[in-house]
Amino acid sequence: MADVCDFLYTQGGLRFQSGSARVSVVIDGVTHDLRVIRNGKGRSRIARGEINLHDLALHVSHGEFVDATVLLDGIQVPLRIDPRTAMGREGRVKSGGIFEETSSLSLDEKVALARSQIRSLPYSHANSDEARVRLNWALEQGDLGVFGVEELRRGSQLQSSHEVLTTFVSTRHAPTVKNVTLTKPSISTPRRPHFDWSETPINSWVPGDLDATCMLNAMHVLFPEGERAFCRVLVSALDRIDDDAVVRDVKGFLAQEGLHARAHAEAFAQLAASTPQIEWTQDAAARAFRFLLGAGKTRNRLLLAWRLASVAAVEHLTTAIGEWTMNNERFAEHGCDTQMSALVKWHGAEEIEHRSVAFDAHRAVQPRLSRPVRVAAMAFWLPTMTLLWVLSAQALLWHVDSRQRHRLLSPRAVRRAVHNGLVPDLLAIAKGAAAFCKAGYHPSTHVAPEVVAAAEAWLSGAAMRQHTQASA
Ligand SMILES: [Fe+2]
Ligand SMILES: [Fe+2]
Repeated sequence: MADVCDFLYTQGGLRFQSGSARVSVVIDGVTHDLRVIRNGKGRSRIARGEINLHDLALHVSHGEFVDATVLLDGIQVPLRIDPRTAMGREGRVKSGGIFEETSSLSLDEKVALARSQIRSLPYSHANSDEARVRLNWALEQGDLGVFGVEELRRGSQLQSSHEVLTTFVSTRHAPTVKNVTLTKPSISTPRRPHFDWSETPINSWVPGDLDATCMLNAMHVLFPEGERAFCRVLVSALDRIDDDAVVRDVKGFLAQEGLHARAHAEAFAQLAASTPQIEWTQDAAARAFRFLLGAGKTRNRLLLAWRLASVAAVEHLTTAIGEWTMNNERFAEHGCDTQMSALVKWHGAEEIEHRSVAFDAHRAVQPRLSRPVRVAAMAFWLPTMTLLWVLSAQALLWHVDSRQRHRLLSPRAVRRAVHNGLVPDLLAIAKGAAAFCKAGYHPSTHVAPEVVAAAEAWLSGAAMRQHTQASA
């Protein structure tokens, strides 16, 4: 089995977050460990060499089942899957059998499965029957502990915490359930990774592609001053925000962005040490962000709202880059420097984690006019950030190699780097920017649950621990 299948999709009666669970499948007495992922939007599973339960059905005779063991909240839960009915239409109809199918599980196993069911409830109207059956079953189990709103929202297709709470509470019927408490999540305590640049070839860390290296090194030019400017804007909004949860998140945001700025500034110091001529680029970036977002606090509410909408717009773009980072394994395939790759992943994952903060702060300061202001902000910041990025990359290209002194960064070089998965696709990011301008938009529901799960997994995974321990 392992030679034909590295991934197992589970949907319908069973549904998990991407990369968050491992399943051991026993085929002909041999155990195979599979990583469970959900089918991502628009991706070809065939092209990725993955199979789903429908494919698995070809390997299992009629009337037979696949015995799977799922690790949920640290508890091994044995499940029996009929690959023909465990997903799709039949799976949804069959979800009514969940009481019978789980009758032999122990209390601990049922509680672990119930928590998993609640986290992955299909809330859309099309699946409302399935949601009701699963929720009713889950709520009849033992003490389910505490759920965060984000935890519920992540698995749903609803727009706001309010909708999640309303749906959750109105569907809930079992009076015997104890201790299901909803909490608003906050940005976690900042992680303080350390990156060792001593072995990093700072001007060639993307092997064989100077253009891609310069395009990526442009982040060391822009992020230190840009993220400090974002922090100044958010600090100046703090005393106008009444919601304690938003204030707490803003403080988490400030800590994270401050550390991002410092890490990129250290990388820029490496660049400047090898090429002192580029030092002016960071001064220019500092002047640009001071001009665009202010050098200090403003007492003008409208100006503050504009600056907050600006930060929210740029955060939408950095979240898109974060999504690209999470979906991208090409750095490793291309032999890119591991320290720099880790910096990019860490930053991308935390951009996803704090994606809602500037937006919520903007809405807290200016609830009424927030949509027109943010449309204007995106219309201004998308071309502005693109221009700043291109100019920074171009300046690096001119200076780091004297032979490239008069060479312009060409669209062809950009396309090649995008095609090779080395830089994000600007066109795709520009298209995604339209979502920011729509009514009902909220960053928390904009990123696919599997990408959020991948970011969380990376931030709590071995690579992150390795870099954090190095700084301890
Ligand atoms: Fe950041
Ligand atoms: Fe950010």
